[in-house]
Amino acid sequence: MTVQIKTAEEIEKMRIAGRLAAEVLEMIGPYVQPGVTTDALNVRCHEYIVNEQQATPAPLNYHGFPKSICTSVNHVVCHGIPNNKPLKDGDIVNIDITVIKDEYHGDTSKMFCVGEVSEKAKRIIRISHECLLKGIELVKPGTHLGDIGFAIQHHAETNKCTIVREYCGHGIGRGFHEQPQVLHYGKRGSGMPLEAGMTFTIEPMVNIGKRHVKLLDDEWTVITKDRSLTAQWEHTLLVTNDGVEVLTKRSDEHF
Ligand code: MF3
Ligand code: CO
Ligand code: CO
Repeated sequence: MTVQIKTAEEIEKMRIAGRLAAEVLEMIGPYVQPGVTTDALNVRCHEYIVNEQQATPAPLNYHGFPKSICTSVNHVVCHGIPNNKPLKDGDIVNIDITVIKDEYHGDTSKMFCVGEVSEKAKRIIRISHECLLKGIELVKPGTHLGDIGFAIQHHAETNKCTIVREYCGHGIGRGFHEQPQVLHYGKRGSGMPLEAGMTFTIEPMVNIGKRHVKLLDDEWTVITKDRSLTAQWEHTLLVTNDGVEVLTKRSDEHF
């Protein structure tokens, strides 16, 4: 499938799905505390999405994924499966929410600190967030995907961090993962130029240690091979005529 340009009607549905996904992250924040299990967070998000939003949690049963959200703690890069282990003071956790509303997807994630976390943890959270912002800043018609990948990789590496290469951002719409692939590394001027009406995610995974990852036996959980700390942030974006609209913007964010 080639890269779709969304119609005005589709864009309106993407705005709604994006807002709902952002609202789940806003809702769950206060519950991310020492002692809570990621299972409990999963149940809370599931009930909110289904009962309050009348929407569908996209991860549940997606290629066999067993839960409604992804929770990736400390050295877990992405696709962590919620479980019954309590979060503890000093943990960092990415919560990744994807909702389907009226057939369209909104996909977003952010990092949460559990209690007081180390300076190292704060740093990787900050650098990965800056990587996302540097990518978003470049989104407008005519920018090449490689320009975005370059900017993200450059910011991570300038700060002695590394970019995970095995997973990437993606087109999004009626499909959870559509074309194009949005790499978080690359060369300026490479890849396709953006056009108004494209919708895709940027979701850099940034490690303190080496970039290499390992897939656990559950076939979902991705960890850093060297067990170093890692962090990720994600937004769903629309290319507009003159720039970008962040479809999963939270109320504390200003773009
Ligand atoms: N939300 C993830 C992404 O950003 C995908 C999760 S797939 C799942 O693309 F099956 F693990 F939920
Ligand atoms: Co995504
Ligand atoms: Co996601």
